Amino acid sequence: MPDAAPLLSIRNLVTRFRSVERGKWITAVDDVSITLAPGEMVGLVGESGCGKSTLGRSIVGLEQPQSGSVIYDGVDLSSLSGRMLRDKRRAIQYVFQDPYASLNDRQTIGETIAEALIIIGVADKTVQARRIQTLLDQVGLPASLAERYPRELSGGQRQRVAIARSLAVEPRVLICDEPVSALDLSIRAQVMNLFLKLHKELGVACLFIAHDLALVRQATSRTYVMYLGKIIEEGRSDELYARPSHPYTQALLASIPSADPRVEAHRPPPSIFGDIPSPTNPPSGCRFRTRCPQATEICASAPPQAVRLTPTHSARCVIAGELYRTKAGADLAQAVPA
Ligand SMILES: Nc1ncnc2c1ncn2[C@@H]1O[C@H](COP(=O)(O)OP(=O)(O)OP(=O)(O)O)[C@@H](O)[C@H]1O
Ligand SMILES: [Mg+2]
Repeated sequence: MPDAAPLLSIRNLVTRFRSVERGKWITAVDDVSITLAPGEMVGLVGESGCGKSTLGRSIVGLEQPQSGSVIYDGVDLSSLSGRMLRDKRRAIQYVFQDPYASLNDRQTIGETIAEALIIIGVADKTVQARRIQTLLDQVGLPASLAERYPRELSGGQRQRVAIARSLAVEPRVLICDEPVSALDLSIRAQVMNLFLKLHKELGVACLFIAHDLALVRQATSRTYVMYLGKIIEEGRSDELYARPSHPYTQALLASIPSADPRVEAHRPPPSIFGDIPSPTNPPSGCRFRTRCPQATEICASAPPQAVRLTPTHSARCVIAGELYRTKAGADLAQAVPA
């Protein structure tokens, strides 16, 4: 869907876990295909447990997919091993949600970043010190922080350090797994702005995983919406948020409260109901049908094909075309702060 040839292309990825229920499996990522163009900022949204982190972790090799491929820079990573694989993988870095768990408390910030620099062969201490200063500066931290330990830092500062460490190995792709959701509300915007700045200045492509649709809408050029292991809608963010065409995306957008009381007063009642079904036993046909206000018998029969709404927007729902044409989606989108 993006204009440029993809830098990262995920094809038909499937990642399963053994469930705690004996003999059962959880298909956390079920036949997912996504792309990321060089320098592109793409959003991945969906409710808790829908498989966002598993997808991200499978891309960087933290989980072992059962099938499908991760193609980076034209090379299928499953065809590589050893050093060749490590070299390619280094270009794809993961930024974790929890800045408290992701740093080693026994290392100073300088040591943490130096460790990453050594991986790319920067062994000279003077060069290291200079790079550490530059990296800290890039993420908006004073150079003096290099001597400090993670426990002396705030959550926002820690996340900035984690970002600096990721950048130290000169990645071309960042998988950002809800990187601001664990932070205090007051500093979320600052760290988010840092991502946008780095993305612009360094041209790093970014898969931005988030619960917060308003955040993704602002920051990304394209969005993927995930439900129970599947991508159910994808498109250019301006198009998708203006005319969400899968009932699930519509419901997600409807659940975002508006800052404008006039819009809030006319907001339709939430159309999403019930809990996400058990991933060990997903519904037949369309996975969303058990919670969908518009479901009919046909939805149980087979998984819906992607309906192309525009050249850059599609949704997996038998009535997506109809929903796209109605004004309901567009009205709803107004309820989301731009
Ligand atoms: N290591 C694991 N072993 C067993 N099941 C797992 C494992 N990791 C994830 N799962 C299951 O896979 C499914 C997807 O989980 P995942 O963490 O990818 O969702 P998510 O969309 O990132 O959720 P959240 O928004 O809460 O972070 C869930 O049903 C989860 O319980
Ligand atoms: Mg997650």
